[in-house]
Amino acid sequence: MRILVTGGAGFIGSALVRHLVSEIGAEVLNVDALTYAGNLASLKSVESAPNYQFLQADICDRARMMQEAFASFRPDIVMHLAAESHVDRSISGADDFIQTNIVGTFSLLDAARHYWDGLDARRKSAFRFLHVSTDEVYGSLGDEGLFEETTPYDPSSPYSASKAASDHLAIAWHRTYGLPVVVSNCSNNYGPFHFPEKLIPLMILNALEGKPLPVYGNGANVRDWLYVEDHARALFTIASRGRPGEKYNVGGRNERRNIDVVHRICAILDGVYSDKGPHARLITNVTDRPGHDARYAIDASKLESELGWKAQETFETGIEKTVHWYLENEWWWRPLRENVYSGERLGVFKGR
Ligand code: NAD
Ligand code: DAU
Repeated sequence: MRILVTGGAGFIGSALVRHLVSEIGAEVLNVDALTYAGNLASLKSVESAPNYQFLQADICDRARMMQEAFASFRPDIVMHLAAESHVDRSISGADDFIQTNIVGTFSLLDAARHYWDGLDARRKSAFRFLHVSTDEVYGSLGDEGLFEETTPYDPSSPYSASKAASDHLAIAWHRTYGLPVVVSNCSNNYGPFHFPEKLIPLMILNALEGKPLPVYGNGANVRDWLYVEDHARALFTIASRGRPGEKYNVGGRNERRNIDVVHRICAILDGVYSDKGPHARLITNVTDRPGHDARYAIDASKLESELGWKAQETFETGIEKTVHWYLENEWWWRPLRENVYSGERLGVFKGR
């Protein structure tokens, strides 16, 4: 099985590539532009594997790099994760989000379509293009209810609007051209190799360094957390067995308020460094995120009943593993904190 992964040097993409190379034994081509979020250090465990190749390329470069990647690698499956992923950065400036998430997805879909058109009948019907997306396309929930695959799109941020646009393009390429596309919409991921701009790794590293833990607004916003390795398994399940033209929600039934997540991290660190606690004294309420969605919660029953996937980690087991991973892997995060992003607030602007 030959799998072309885009964004494989990112957080979820690298977990997926490690899974495909080491556990599935697929032939993998990782296509990644290596933006600030791309990090080949996350792929150290597979970089010398004979079934792994890396191509540094921008997915927007359809005519040259993408068509060439398809023609030379000849994938059976495409798993498209390359994106600008951070909501706060999309608030500060949306240009790269429009380019990569919308134009880039168009570029990749079209390169895939031309390649797929030229396949023989057997390979054509087996081919799959998995477009990896987010639950944020559905907007914000009130206190009750879950996102289902049929929930209408209602994105709030430039990031989620760009992902919504890309989902529509992917489904359109199926309905119009017959390209065997499947779409996955997943909730918040966490785990090892998570870039420390996102809530969980930022809180762990700030707490370790005795810095304030900035909680947006009152901390009552709810996210539905999924351990990244559970997501990687779900993505392979959907790409290999999902039905073309269908969407699958992915989530682990782990709803938590942000403030409770931060308290949990502090409690784990108190257990390790009792002399430095209580870490919760570092919690600081800061100005809310503009357009901050109140609650996300995923109904993953279609994926569970139709394809037999189930999350293996609970939030309690996953967060414990994650905090300990950061304690043991300073070699990975220290260069990022010092040279790429040191934790300053992103995504606020005058007038809000
Ligand atoms: P990430 O920001 O960690 O990684 C993105 C990767 O894409 C990086 O390696 C980057 O170099 C690469 N990339 C960016 N622009 C590119 C371009 N123009 N061409 C080629 N490569 C490019 O993102 P992530 O958190 O791993 O998310 C991966 C995907 O999963 C995204 O599509 C995101 O929308 C989706 N998703 C993320 C989450 C989450 O909680 N992080 C949840 C659901 C869905
Ligand atoms: O739901 C899936 C989405 O989850 C993905 O599509 C995105 O790519 C991913 O970045 C993530 O988006 P969020 O905006 O939910 O993640 P983030 O880690 O930025 O924030 C999680 C919550 O924590 C959110 O309610 C905002 C809050 N927050 C975040 C940061 C960075 C804080 O309170 N303080 C912070 O410093």
